[in-house]
Order: sequence, then structure tokens, then C-alpha cells
Amino acid sequence: MKNINKAGCFALAITFSPFGASGAQAQEASAERGEKLANFHCARCHVMPGRSNMGIGSTPSFKIMVKSEAADWRDKFEAFYSLAPHPAFVTIKELRTERSGPAIAAPIVLSFREIDDLIAYVDKLAIEHRKP
Ligand code: HEC
Repeated sequence: MKNINKAGCFALAITFSPFGASGAQAQEASAERGEKLANFHCARCHVMPGRSNMGIGSTPSFKIMVKSEAADWRDKFEAFYSLAPHPAFVTIKELRTERSGPAIAAPIVLSFREIDDLIAYVDKLAIEHRKP
């Protein structure tokens, strides 16, 4: 746990470094930040591992997705913002896309770096929940 906290402080130091954008880009993806993002944004609909949130109807849980035998589950996480139903409420900062379709849910705005953090988190989940 101590090491994780140290890593967190280090990441913060980089975020606020005078090197600005290039410093932020060099920053490694963080599963810890990804987990926070997922619990904040995705847990509104998806059931998250280790939490007792309810999720919405037919929305697949993150655990079921990372355990999926389908080889492309990770691609789907990388592109989830372009897969239904997400384009209706997810915007990527760098793409400056407009949300498409009716606003069926409160908007979520993410940067590519935050997507990388989410991927780091689901990679960690996959290691924890898949059989070797
Ligand atoms: C408003 C509800 C809602 C929110 C918020 C939401 N999702 Fe989803 N998501 C869904 C639904 C519903 C599906 C199932 C779509 C289907 O099966 O066609 C889904 C499916 C997915 C899939 C699988 C896509 C596929 O085509 O198989 C991924 C990956 C995913 N979501 C990632 C995320 C991530 C990451 C977040 C948070 C940043 C998130 N979702 C937030 C409703 C939501």
C-alpha cells in the first residue's frame, strides 16, 4: 500500500510539473486513477468489481467483460466511447466531438490520458479475474 501511495504522489508531481502537456503525456497510465474514474463515471450503469453498486439493466459488468473469451474485449474498452450507447453521453476532450443522439444520460468528458488510465485498470482487473 505504501508503495502505491508513493507512486500516487509521484504521479501528482508530474501532473503539476512546469513541463506542461509534454510532461503529462510522458506520464504512465495509472490503474489507481482508472479505478477512480470507473467508479465515478462507469459505475452509474456498469456493476464494478468489489463494489455493491447496482448497475443498470442489461449493462455488462466490468468483471464479466474482462473475463470474456472474446479476444476483442480490450479493443472494446479502448474504443468504448465510439460504441453504443456511449456516444450519446461520452465526449473525448482532444477529439472535441459533439455528443451524438439524444442525451440519454448525464454527460461524461474524458481525455485520452484518462482512457489510458481506464485501460490500465481493466488490465489489472483482467489479471485478477482471469484464470492463467
Ligand atoms: C448510461 C449508462 C452507461 C455508462 C455511464 C457507461 N456505460 Fe458502458 N455500456 C452501457 C451499456 C447499456 C452497454 C451494453 C451495450 C450493448 O451490449 O450493446 C455498455 C457496454 C460497454 C462496453 C462493451 C461494449 C461492447 O460493444 O461490447 C464497454 C467496454 C463499456 N461499456 C465501457 C464503459 C466505460 C469504460 C464507461 C465509463 C467511462 C462506461 N462504459 C460507462 C452503458 C453505460
